[in-house]
Amino acid sequence: MKATSRATSNIAFVKYWGRINEQLRLPMNGSISMNLAAATTTTTVEFDPKLEFDYIHPQSLQLNEKQATRVFQHIDRIRKLAKIDMRAMVATQNNFPMGAGIASSASAFAALTVAAATAAGLELDTRELSILARQGSGSACRSVPSGFVEWHYGETNEDSYAEQIAPPDHWDIRNLIAITQAEHKTVGSAEGNALVETSPFNAIRVQLAQESMKIIRKAILDRDFTTLGEETEREAIRLHVIAMTSVPMILYWNPVTVRIMQAVMTWRNEGLESYFTIDAGANVHIIVQGQDADAVETRLRAIEGVRDVIHSRVGNGAILLNEHLF
Ligand code: DP6
Repeated sequence: MKATSRATSNIAFVKYWGRINEQLRLPMNGSISMNLAAATTTTTVEFDPKLEFDYIHPQSLQLNEKQATRVFQHIDRIRKLAKIDMRAMVATQNNFPMGAGIASSASAFAALTVAAATAAGLELDTRELSILARQGSGSACRSVPSGFVEWHYGETNEDSYAEQIAPPDHWDIRNLIAITQAEHKTVGSAEGNALVETSPFNAIRVQLAQESMKIIRKAILDRDFTTLGEETEREAIRLHVIAMTSVPMILYWNPVTVRIMQAVMTWRNEGLESYFTIDAGANVHIIVQGQDADAVETRLRAIEGVRDVIHSRVGNGAILLNEHLF
C-alpha cells in the first residue's frame, strides 16, 4: 500500500489558459508540451489503516494549508476510485524552487497521481492516469506520458487527456529556464485561469490556439525548429495578452523578463536561433536545439538579473521508483 513516483515538469508550446469546466479542469483548448528531464517531483504515498488523518510526512517538502488541502482532495478522488477509506501519509520533494514560475503543480500532481493510484492498488493505463492527474492540476495530465505530449481538447472527463506525440529521443530540443525571481508569484495560474473570460480577446486566442495545435504537432513530427519556435513564441504572447487584459489585470513579467525576450530576438538576428515562451510567472523558458544550447546558456547567464539557468532535455513523464522517501 506504498508507492513512489517521479514525474517531470513540462513546458507548453501551446498553452492551457482558461477552462470550460472548473470542477473537472476541462480546458478551452488543447495544448502541447515537452517534459522537462531536469525539473522533477518525487512523491511517496502510503495508505495505512492505523492513520486517523491524512498527513504530510515531516521529512517532506512542507506544504501550506491550501496546498495540503489540494493534495488530500486529490487523494480522496483516488480513494473513491479504489473504494478504500484508509488515510494516507504523503512525502514529496522537488529538485527546483516551488512557485518560481516553473510549473511545479504539473510534476507534483502527476507524481502524486501515479504514486497514490499504485499504492491504492489501482491498475490504470496512461490515459486513465492522465485523466486523474488533470483533475488535480490541468497541466499535470501532460506530465504523465513521456516525451513530447498533446493534451486533447475534450468536452467530457473521458475525452480530456494527454497522449505522447513523440518519445524523448525523437528530437534533441532543450529548454533553458532563466530564473528571474526566487519568491512565489503573486497570481497563481489557478486564479489567472479563472479570469480569462473577463478579457475581450479570449475567444480569438482560443481559436488561434487550435490552429497552433496543428502547426506545432506537425513541426514536432517534422523536426522543424523554426516553425516550432515562431509559433510557440506567438502562442505565449497571446496568453499574456489575455492575462494583461483580464479584470483585474495580471502582469507576470518583470524588467528582467523583458530584457531576456529582447536578447533572444537579438541573438536570433545574429544567427543563434532560439525562441522564448513564458508561463504564469516571470521566468523565461528559452527553446533551443541541442547543438546551440551551451552557447545560449552562456549568453543567458551573462544577462543582468538572471539568478540561475536550469538546462533541461526532453524528459520521461511519470515513472514508478522502487526507492521510497520514507
Ligand atoms: C500558464 O496547470 O498550473 O503553465 O489546473 O489550475 O493547476 P491548474 O493550472 P496549471 O496551469 C498552467 C498554465 C500555464 C500553461 C500550460 O502549462 O499549459
